[in-house]
Amino acid sequence: MEKAMEEAVPAGMRGDLKRTHGCGELREEHVGQAVRLAGWVQRTRALGGLTFFDLRDRSGLVQVVCDPARNTAAHAAAGELRGEFVVAVRGRVVRRAPETVNPRLPTGTVEVEPDEIVLLNRAKTPPFEIEESVDTDELVRLKYRYLDLRRPDMQRNLILRHRVVQAVRDALDRAGFLEIETPMLTRSTPEGARDFLVPSRLNPGTFYALPQSPQLFKQLLMVAGMERYFQIVRCFRDEDLRADRQPEFTQIDLEMSFVDEADVMAVTEGLVAAAFAAAGLPVPATPLPRLTWREAMDRYGTDKPDLRCGLELRDVTDTVRGCGFKVFADAAAQDGGCVKGLVVPGANRFSRKDLDDLTEEARGHGAKGLAWMIVEEPGRADGGTAVPAGPGASVRSPIAKFFTAGEREAVLAALGAEPGDLCLFAADRWRTAVEVLGQIRLSLARRLGLIRERAAGAPAAPEDFRFVWVTDFPLLEWDGEEKRWVAVHHPFTSPAAADLERLETDPAGVRARAYDLVLNGVELGGGSIRIHRRDVQERMFRALGIAETEARAKFGFLLDAFEYGTPPHGGIALGLDRMIALMAGVASIRDVIAFPKTARAVDPMTAAPAPVEERQLRDLHVVVVRGKE
Ligand code: AMO
Ligand code: AMP
Repeated sequence: MEKAMEEAVPAGMRGDLKRTHGCGELREEHVGQAVRLAGWVQRTRALGGLTFFDLRDRSGLVQVVCDPARNTAAHAAAGELRGEFVVAVRGRVVRRAPETVNPRLPTGTVEVEPDEIVLLNRAKTPPFEIEESVDTDELVRLKYRYLDLRRPDMQRNLILRHRVVQAVRDALDRAGFLEIETPMLTRSTPEGARDFLVPSRLNPGTFYALPQSPQLFKQLLMVAGMERYFQIVRCFRDEDLRADRQPEFTQIDLEMSFVDEADVMAVTEGLVAAAFAAAGLPVPATPLPRLTWREAMDRYGTDKPDLRCGLELRDVTDTVRGCGFKVFADAAAQDGGCVKGLVVPGANRFSRKDLDDLTEEARGHGAKGLAWMIVEEPGRADGGTAVPAGPGASVRSPIAKFFTAGEREAVLAALGAEPGDLCLFAADRWRTAVEVLGQIRLSLARRLGLIRERAAGAPAAPEDFRFVWVTDFPLLEWDGEEKRWVAVHHPFTSPAAADLERLETDPAGVRARAYDLVLNGVELGGGSIRIHRRDVQERMFRALGIAETEARAKFGFLLDAFEYGTPPHGGIALGLDRMIALMAGVASIRDVIAFPKTARAVDPMTAAPAPVEERQLRDLHVVVVRGKE
């Protein structure tokens, strides 16, 4: 039976089987119309002498109902169908009887009665169900990615990605940007990760690097007078992978001449707004809020604050100066030391064990300890350990005994703590204290459900997307392992004009003209106003401990270019994969990339990376040295 049908339709290209509609498009308004559909069989079932199957294509699915009394051949053909068989259906749209309407399906009020069913291809039983949100092991999904991508949620993610890319291209085109491609086979640029290298056959012993970003090329395009450049570009970084990191990923990369920070930020906000509008998501109100790096660290303990929950850190250094608790008093007295507090509302029910666990967690982040005070609610006196804390309140805390009632009250007042609150303290060097409490803040926010997580594909509210610009980053930071200053952003970022004179004398105090765009605690993008003068770029290289000869060898072309009339310029790159993942509400960027790699940088489908032939290696002048792995 199947054989006969297949032979009747050479390669499935019979003209009268060309599709008139997408399966998911059919509605009541189509009732009575003749349609031709094609797609994959979702599921078949026989019921009361009838055979039903759902036909699926990219637009969705529709039910096909085969009644032997109406069309014997079609009914017989339907009986042969299995999941993922590819078929064409010619038939008529009919209204479903009220009791058979399926309100969960957009096409649920109608079904199709076939006049003809043509089998275009058969399928083996797939290794997992082609359905919304499978919980199949990701390795299996990636091995059979072509099946995984048939699932409606994956199709939705890739359609969203397409929409956003189109909207971004359009918005940048309208804003006068030129899309210009830059080389994939190039030299290493210092973006901070390891390079992927490509051996050159024609130049024995030399290697191209795949670009970690088009940073130097886009700057050279500004020297070249292109004025506004953009590219939706693949970047390659050999680094440890996580849910939001892939070895190859895509940036929306742009660069502009004759601009300052405000111009780059305004263009970025415009393209983000265009992307959200195209995706049917709430368009963020612009200008987006801003924090300096110092404020972000002080209030949230991180340079990528998640503003979906309040919970701000407070400084109590001045309040605890000279208090009876030695740990606090010492930290307050120490140069560069501080005592930071975090108030967690309604966390007074935390047990001693919860608090010990929290202390361990803080130690894991580098804290020496984590002091806590619980402000008791009136009438919830807690046998024995509670100490009166001034009018109407008492605290439970292992450190309460070190404070006078007045000192305790002052600390609680400085924190704005109320009955029922848990107060946490870190006493340390400023950077450690804020970062520890920043991590604890996030962990508690998650644990207490203070951050509303939107389910994948669920409707979004404006408060689901909390953007913030972080500005005024430090230019340099001390790398204790390598014992040298390293660029916080990259070596081409301009120091703030007012700080330039201190580049050699006080490197830690120099601010960068850099900015990051943060969404829901994720670094979405980063950029800067660049150095455009040769002398400043050379000073920067010196500050980074890059010797003159090394600078010439690696970046001579940039330094030379800076001598031929380089305009002031700046730009930014947004991580497209991260942006789409946040828009789609999925946890991993792998779910918005058609063919991603695993956390071990492997593609289970093609089995890349793989050994190559000895001859290929010889041609490339490459010898593989096998270690003891
Ligand atoms: P940066 O290194 O900050 O800046 O990268 C910009 C953005 O790219 C995304 N991103 C990644 N996404 C997925 N996987 C990765 N491994 C990965 N690494 C980075 C992040 C990040 O914010 N040339 C500069 C930009 C500039 O100065 O204009 C640059 O590449 O979302
Ligand atoms: P100790 O005096 O070491 O017994 O510590 C008393 C309490 O203070 C314990 O709960 C510790 O976790 C906490 N603690 C110790 N050092 C610090 C610190 N640097 N910052 C905050 N809390 C601390």
